[in-house]
Amino acid sequence: ICRGLSSSAVRHVVIKHVTIIGGGQMGAGIAQVAASTGHAVTLVDTNEDILKKAVKGIEGNLKRVVKKKFADKPEAGEEFLQKAMQNVSISTDAGSVVQGTDLVVEAIVENLKVKQDLFGGLDKVAPAHTIFASNTSSLSITDIASSTSRLDRFGGLHFFNPVPVMRLVEVIATSSTSQETFDSLLNFSKMLGKTSVSCKDTPGFIVNRLLLPYILDAVRMYERGDGSKEDIDIAMKLGCGYPMGPFELSDYVGLDTMKFIMDGWSAANPDNPMFAQSEVLNKLVAEGKFGKKTGEGFYKY
Ligand code: CAA
Ligand code: NAD
Repeated sequence: ICRGLSSSAVRHVVIKHVTIIGGGQMGAGIAQVAASTGHAVTLVDTNEDILKKAVKGIEGNLKRVVKKKFADKPEAGEEFLQKAMQNVSISTDAGSVVQGTDLVVEAIVENLKVKQDLFGGLDKVAPAHTIFASNTSSLSITDIASSTSRLDRFGGLHFFNPVPVMRLVEVIATSSTSQETFDSLLNFSKMLGKTSVSCKDTPGFIVNRLLLPYILDAVRMYERGDGSKEDIDIAMKLGCGYPMGPFELSDYVGLDTMKFIMDGWSAANPDNPMFAQSEVLNKLVAEGKFGKKTGEGFYKY
């Protein structure tokens, strides 16, 4: 058994240190969960301000969790909080961080070229055993991995927003992903306390392949003037028991990300009207109204 591999029946790389690239909504959430389950985490982004904001957010969320989980054991709660926060470090230099990491989870902008450039560069400096994973919502893992020479150590690890609350992770193997890598990603998801499902490396995997067409249909309905966004949201919450309506959820996901997904799928399927341009979405994104993260999207926050 090589160094860094577990000795259990299923061989997998033991993930001790995780590098998370992208300190936005998803990266910060993944960092929070990984740190609070005992992993050493380095969160990487392009500038210190974003990273400081992310760490502040993680601490705030953890305090909320601790207050509830350790209501009658405040000392144990404080210890948990300190330990989790000590597990988090930040950096703007991905190249140097990955030299000592077991797993890279990428959660940057939803753009194939940008993701390929990032992984292509990291591939040259990361140790041989390091596994690369993307949290992409809509892109092909095979396409992202193609910029690297570690196709066997590359997979999809798709989390859901908000990561600390949503219990699912989609774990994706491409036709080149090794069994050991796949098992390592499954095991890591389990260590984070998540339930995992798997499917082929198909656009949107399971959840977004079903969710996006539904959200886009709601946007078309609103654009046609068939119903107000408020009524559509109330209808889906009270009529279907969904926690958020499609417009609230779009604002929560981020309208910039929604547009990246639509544009990518539209380029790949130009004749499919489902992914045709949406005037309303384009206008909001052009105005910088990306949803909850910028204070305004379909709604104001
Ligand atoms: N960190 C830690 N805990 C958090 C949290 C965070 N960031 N955000 C919320 N919580 C916790 C709260 O503390 C609370 O905990 P308790 O139940 O123990 O009290 C619980 O979550 C519920 O939170 P709130 O009471 O504040 O709010 P809520 O009841 O309105 O729920 C919600 C908020 C969980 C976001 C809920 O509205 C929801 O499930 N919305 C739908 C989310 C969804 O569908 N996500 C998937 C999006 S698609 C995607 O992610 C894939 C993609 O690629 C685009
Ligand atoms: P976000 O806009 O909140 O955060 C993205 C972060 O990545 C930003 O802080 C940005 O500065 C940083 N970044 C961009 N390029 C970078 C680079 N080259 N190097 C380092 N950092 C870089 O976006 P998000 O909502 O966290 O989404 C991130 C990824 O996760 C996307 O691929 C998205 O499709 C996917 N995803 C999003 C959701 C969601 O609900 N928002 C759910 C699952 C998956």
